[in-house]
Amino acid sequence: MKTQSPLAFWTRSTIGAWLALAAGTVLAEIPTLTVQVSQPGAVPTQYGVFFEDINYGADGGLYPERIKNRSFEFPEPLLGWKPIVLKDASGEATVETSDPLNSHNPHYLRVKVAKAGHGYGLSNEGFFGMGFQQGQEYEFSVMARCHDASPMKLVVEAVRPNGDRLAISGLTVSAPGWKRYACTLRSASTDPKARLNLLVASPGAVDLDMVSLFPHNTWKNRPNGLRPDLVKWLAEMKPAFLRFPGGCIVEGRDLSKRYQWKNTIGSLDQRRLIINRWNDEFKHRPAPDYFQSFGLGFYEYFQLCEDIGAAPLPILNCGMACQFNTGELVPLNELDPFIQDALDLIEFANGPASSPWGSRRAAMGHPAPFNMRLLGIGNEQWGPQYIDRYERFAKVLKARHPEIQLVSSAGPRLDDDLYQFLWPKLRELKADIVDEHIYASPDYFYKNAFRYDRYQRGGPKVFMGEYAVQSVKVASPDNRNNWECALAEAAFMTGLERNSDVVAMASYAPLFAHVEGWQWTPDLIWMDNLRSFATPNYYVQQLFSLHRGTRVLPVKVNSEETSPTLYASAAWDDMAREVIVKCVNASPNLRVVRLDLAGARKLASEGRAIVLASGNLKAENSLDQPTRIVPREKAFTLRPPELAINLEPYSLTVLRVPVRPRQP
Ligand code: AHR
Repeated sequence: MKTQSPLAFWTRSTIGAWLALAAGTVLAEIPTLTVQVSQPGAVPTQYGVFFEDINYGADGGLYPERIKNRSFEFPEPLLGWKPIVLKDASGEATVETSDPLNSHNPHYLRVKVAKAGHGYGLSNEGFFGMGFQQGQEYEFSVMARCHDASPMKLVVEAVRPNGDRLAISGLTVSAPGWKRYACTLRSASTDPKARLNLLVASPGAVDLDMVSLFPHNTWKNRPNGLRPDLVKWLAEMKPAFLRFPGGCIVEGRDLSKRYQWKNTIGSLDQRRLIINRWNDEFKHRPAPDYFQSFGLGFYEYFQLCEDIGAAPLPILNCGMACQFNTGELVPLNELDPFIQDALDLIEFANGPASSPWGSRRAAMGHPAPFNMRLLGIGNEQWGPQYIDRYERFAKVLKARHPEIQLVSSAGPRLDDDLYQFLWPKLRELKADIVDEHIYASPDYFYKNAFRYDRYQRGGPKVFMGEYAVQSVKVASPDNRNNWECALAEAAFMTGLERNSDVVAMASYAPLFAHVEGWQWTPDLIWMDNLRSFATPNYYVQQLFSLHRGTRVLPVKVNSEETSPTLYASAAWDDMAREVIVKCVNASPNLRVVRLDLAGARKLASEGRAIVLASGNLKAENSLDQPTRIVPREKAFTLRPPELAINLEPYSLTVLRVPVRPRQP
């Protein structure tokens, strides 16, 4: 963000001059925004990130494995693979199960080559093709064993869609037992849509499993690491927490497909693959090759939290499958293993390296605890069935781990019957934090920008755990990440922030989407195989998060509007000694607003305004135009005591005013 505008952003009591500029405006019409600088209140709402493996967010996205169906465990075991039979070659490729790698990974590929000729083997198509960058290295690895005594040569090559070669390498499988083999491919040029050919160059038979092609260039250059451009977006938000793994994915269509964290840790070949629930959720957006390899599992999740300074917030299944699907229930007298999973997760995250689950964490490379303090019980559940199950979890967890704050569910929408049933029950149970979800129109969000001003205090805190403005309607494939939606979210967020004593946490949802593979839109960050861009909605989240401050300040907008177009929140930043004011101008007009910093003792002479704006409500960012809507910074000179600010049409403005308050 650079200082760009030469515009004087502020003026002083020479408001008359402003009025002359804003033709037709009279003093009485200028709204006043009063911030009580000497009345610091709650710690501001924590803005975090909601991650779910939807829209190819993990496999095919943040988890940069290039091979689709690397373990041949898809129900159609050769999905993603195609035979290659070059000149003078013959052979057969079959999927076998006898004497597999391990019981969690029961299928493998057997390639029998009668005549090696110019090459016999298979080609993998990747996720919408495979992205290769010129000059970058990729590790090919495979678990393999020879069948006969003779060693088997493998050739691996990355090729463009037209067959041109990007890279080639090879290895020899020499042992009769399962063993890992690896070689490196260096790409001669860039292609987002390449594929990998795996050719067996010797006659005989070879068994192959866990076929992997992994970029060296990962976040922090970790083996099995994450896609760096995507993690960077997250890190640059400085999210207070990271909710994981969802979302409905926690619940599963039925209980056999629920997310089970214990199946996502340890060596990769031990992580039991399951179908992704978004594979066939929407008939209009089928994703038949969408599965969960869990290469990005709970260990990688905790590591990511640590890397980006976000508090972990895992969400666990509470014995209920998705109530939009089967709603399958675990009988109450059979809930203990689910509660035990929660206890074990706490030990995996926080227990000493000598404890049974802490030692699993240590064996993966992290002897120190991850310091988890939040845990969600169920995702978007409702009804007495949920309360019964939450109560049982809470009883055990509160007794054993009072240090952990529990997140409970208020159902899929605000204010409906499910919500009205859940809230009083959760109050009675003295729940810590209640997770509210809302996907609705821009108008709904504007109207609800004041809902928490009227909220009942003194009970559980609110976690606005999933929200996003829908330009058409929920689950419509035509929803857009446009400025209209982002601006309404900003207005709504001023209401969250003003009421930080109630709304403790908030996260937009969903997070990632592949431009060729999404099921749900809108989403915060979009990608293809090599590029990614942040939406205007992302920049709204980022501005609130980066300019959170340390204590909320009371703010009042005194305006004569019958239906408001001006929204504001304010905070004090103890480190910077600045007042932060966030203003949303949801009108098409430039607005002059009088700012009254009540209780401020002395203003410094310079301040900053960070502006996110577009005159076009339908404007969006894209892969080709990623910066159409991005924050711009303006410096301004302060001339106290009376300040007028100039808000651009359709804008979110964050003002940072160096100030010396009387009290804090
Ligand atoms: O964010 C997409 C989905 O919306 C989530 O999985 C679910 O919790 C909600 O219904």
